[in-house]
Amino acid sequence: MRERRRQVGDFEVIEFDDAAEVDALRGRRELPAALDLRWTWEYGSEVAELRALYEKGKVSQWNAERDVDWSVPCTPEAWIVAPEGSLLAQVLKLMGRDEETQRAAAFEEIAYLLSQLLHGEQAALQLCGQLTNTCEKMDEKWYAASQVADEARHVEVFSKLLQRKLGRVHPISPTLKILLEMLLQAPSTREKTLGMQTLFEGMAVGIMDLLRGQCRNALLADVLRRVEQDEARHAAFGVLMMRRVVRSASAEERAQMEDWCFSVLEALNANQQLDMLVGLGPKYGIEPEAVVRMTTALPNFAQLNCLPYMHTVVPNLKALGLLTGRREADWRRVGMLVDRREVEALLAAAGPVD
Ligand SMILES: [Fe+2]
Ligand SMILES: [Fe+2]
Repeated sequence: MRERRRQVGDFEVIEFDDAAEVDALRGRRELPAALDLRWTWEYGSEVAELRALYEKGKVSQWNAERDVDWSVPCTPEAWIVAPEGSLLAQVLKLMGRDEETQRAAAFEEIAYLLSQLLHGEQAALQLCGQLTNTCEKMDEKWYAASQVADEARHVEVFSKLLQRKLGRVHPISPTLKILLEMLLQAPSTREKTLGMQTLFEGMAVGIMDLLRGQCRNALLADVLRRVEQDEARHAAFGVLMMRRVVRSASAEERAQMEDWCFSVLEALNANQQLDMLVGLGPKYGIEPEAVVRMTTALPNFAQLNCLPYMHTVVPNLKALGLLTGRREADWRRVGMLVDRREVEALLAAAGPVD
């Protein structure tokens, strides 16, 4: 995405400004993805923690149709998140627009965010299907297969929430599509696991937990809580798998993995919600670049921007030895990492994961 980079103020963003190109990117539905399938003849359990996680998953299943109370209203007539949980609402307030407009924009912004989570869930569903093929051990195959069922349920619950309550499913952000396709096409189990299970699952948990902390709608909060419980298990699978991979990797391989993790999340961060702002901003008279120029220049930009990263991904990567002093300055430079005590109060206010 190097050719999509440009400078906005002091920040280097990734931006897709050619609508026809974005349409073509979204319209491409076929993706060649070669897999190295593996058989195993060892049917006994070899990794006790994975077997335990599989058992935990079996008793934690829920039914998106029956267990969710779909009669709870979710409309733009009331704030579904606190006003400070919506970038558009805050910008419109600064512009002096009335509360009804702020509420409507917040509603659309949450629909956009949930749509991106939905598209991410579809990628997780497909990637986990790949993992059931490529994993070496039967414990891993069983667990990955059980996660396929979880991800199908997440696609189901988010699509129903969007179609029944939020009004529409927004198209996938081009930045997200490129990154997800990179993982789906990654040649090795190692990159697929690290990318989806550690980076994207970890980001999803962070985003959902922060959103739930700001949530003012019982239906949305319930859906997020249910999905988050499953995602915490999925992130644990990623850590268990990667711990063994990292342990057996050479120093050079570890450095490559550390660089790769940074490059994937830095690209996500470089978009700075421009894909959302380009899609929704003009309708409200909001100029996307002006918003990014303003937010990235805030004195507490890094403290706010780092929250979804520091929630789960940063601690997990540090525990794995994939975020070390080698690259820490880069994480700090782009506002994805600050000193822990600077965000503790903010994270506590967002509420812990169940
Ligand atoms: Fe999921
Ligand atoms: Fe997941």
